[in-house]
Amino acid sequence: MSLASLESVAVLDKESAQEVLFDINFTAKPGQLIALVGPSGAGKSTIIQLVARLYDVRKGSIVINGIDVRDATLDSLHGAIGIVTQDAHMFRDTIRANLLYAKPTVTEEEMVEALQSAQILPFIQSLPQGMDTMVGENGYRLSGGEKQRLAIARLLLKAPDIIILDEATAHLDSTSEAMVQKAFQIALKGRTSLVIAHRLSTVQRADQILVIDKGRIVERGKHSSLLANKGLYAKLYNTQFAKKSN
Ligand SMILES: Nc1ncnc2c1ncn2[C@@H]1O[C@H](COP(=O)(O)OP(=O)(O)OP(=O)(O)O)[C@@H](O)[C@H]1O
Ligand SMILES: [Mg+2]
Repeated sequence: MSLASLESVAVLDKESAQEVLFDINFTAKPGQLIALVGPSGAGKSTIIQLVARLYDVRKGSIVINGIDVRDATLDSLHGAIGIVTQDAHMFRDTIRANLLYAKPTVTEEEMVEALQSAQILPFIQSLPQGMDTMVGENGYRLSGGEKQRLAIARLLLKAPDIIILDEATAHLDSTSEAMVQKAFQIALKGRTSLVIAHRLSTVQRADQILVIDKGRIVERGKHSSLLANKGLYAKLYNTQFAKKSN
């Protein structure tokens, strides 16, 4: 997956005069998990898209390791950042080839290990053509959860310094959800990550939760202190997170 291909998928509307984000300011230290939560349309996806440079900021800056992302090459950004969204893009090729895109030098053994960690190995082994199964356009139609787990396997092979995730899981049943959750936890371990969080387990583990509303960070902190604040986070918690057992 290259940023260039993601760019062509994203709908870029550079002419838009509408401002959607205001005074967004936060720092992720190496290894930290930053969780973004907030109502639909709040600006969460826009923030992660700015970090991956699918859009550019008009004011202010996004800095990774002291370098403004606008001064970095797409190649170096692509190397440093791994993204898994709800509709992970698969190239119209075999599963093996899709994994090779992530890391051209990968061995068969490493692939199997990544698929295992991503909780997708038994499924792939159950396919008549295994890793030679064609996916992507007109290929084997992977379910949302299967696609997400395959995308996580790719992420594990790529081993980027920064991981960006959109956890959205509305379409997953509970078994698939549990597998994706486990795969995410393995992928995030020890990495700097920015996650649009939909799971209680993620917000509870987060080093910092940013509560986004109408393009602004309206609350920030850890799960327990935000909950005690009885503000928007507490409200979201009661409607979104508390209902789910994970
Ligand atoms: N190119 C654009 N020009 C103007 N407004 C935009 C553009 N793209 C998105 N928006 C608006 O920006 C706001 C934030 O959108 P964003 O996708 O970041 O929300 P979100 O928090 O990710 O929501 P959800 O939880 O539904 O995914 C929305 O009101 C959206 O309609
Ligand atoms: Mg979104």
